[in-house]
Amino acid sequence: MGKTLIIANWKMNFTVHEASVFLHKLDKVVQNHRNVEMVIAPTALCLQPLSIQIDHAKYKLAAQNLYWRDEGAFTGEVSAHQLRGLVKYALIGHSERRYVFHEHEKDIRNKVQAAVRNGIIPVLCVGETAAERTDGETDMIIHNQIVSGLANLTADEAKTVVVAYEPVWAISKGKDFAGHASATPGDAAKAARSIRRQIQHLFGRETAQEVRVLYGGSVNGSNSAGFLTVTELDGLLVGGASLHVDEFSKMVKSAHDRR
Ligand code: 13P
Repeated sequence: MGKTLIIANWKMNFTVHEASVFLHKLDKVVQNHRNVEMVIAPTALCLQPLSIQIDHAKYKLAAQNLYWRDEGAFTGEVSAHQLRGLVKYALIGHSERRYVFHEHEKDIRNKVQAAVRNGIIPVLCVGETAAERTDGETDMIIHNQIVSGLANLTADEAKTVVVAYEPVWAISKGKDFAGHASATPGDAAKAARSIRRQIQHLFGRETAQEVRVLYGGSVNGSNSAGFLTVTELDGLLVGGASLHVDEFSKMVKSAHDRR
């Protein structure tokens, strides 16, 4: 087992100043563990200042989104080419991008490819909605999103990818992360197996074994240890709870104590 990955998706929270103060506080509490990789995904505006502030041996940075064209007349977008060297990872196809901003499968596929082309590890987010779950379509949705999202990659490129299983119904609004329904560790294990099965089918066994799979959706300091008992998971993608120093440090500790 490699390092356990804990990605903090701050979504559209924290000003540049607040982000800096938060990381300063976090740094006093959270330790650097050899077996845990801590990744912060702030708003794009914070990437540059945080990159100057952080100890890069302790934290890595991730973009929450990127655009697949390198440059040009694309108002409001930030390209993988512009993020190159600044971030190690980029979230791609997050459910809020899919359902709030109506991102299409084709965009997601192009973004995954652009990330890889620019030396950024894509964190492809997949997962079913509540209605799809009720209708027993979870496996099919995962299949479709994996096949489509990774279609432009070679087997070697696909090995580097991280896939996050984030069932849409389990994602909190941010402040309600503690009371919100989450998947069970059993659901996450089943989805992780399904993700690896699809990847094996597309790229072969070796790639399927190397791809890292995360769970996200109302993870917090109290339930993270439970998810991390799932050997099929390589880590967690956390929203609301990652905005709290105490919750964050509990999750990191549970990742450290994993083995
Ligand atoms: P919550 O942890 O707030 O449910 O958010 C999950 C998520 O969307 C992380 O990308």
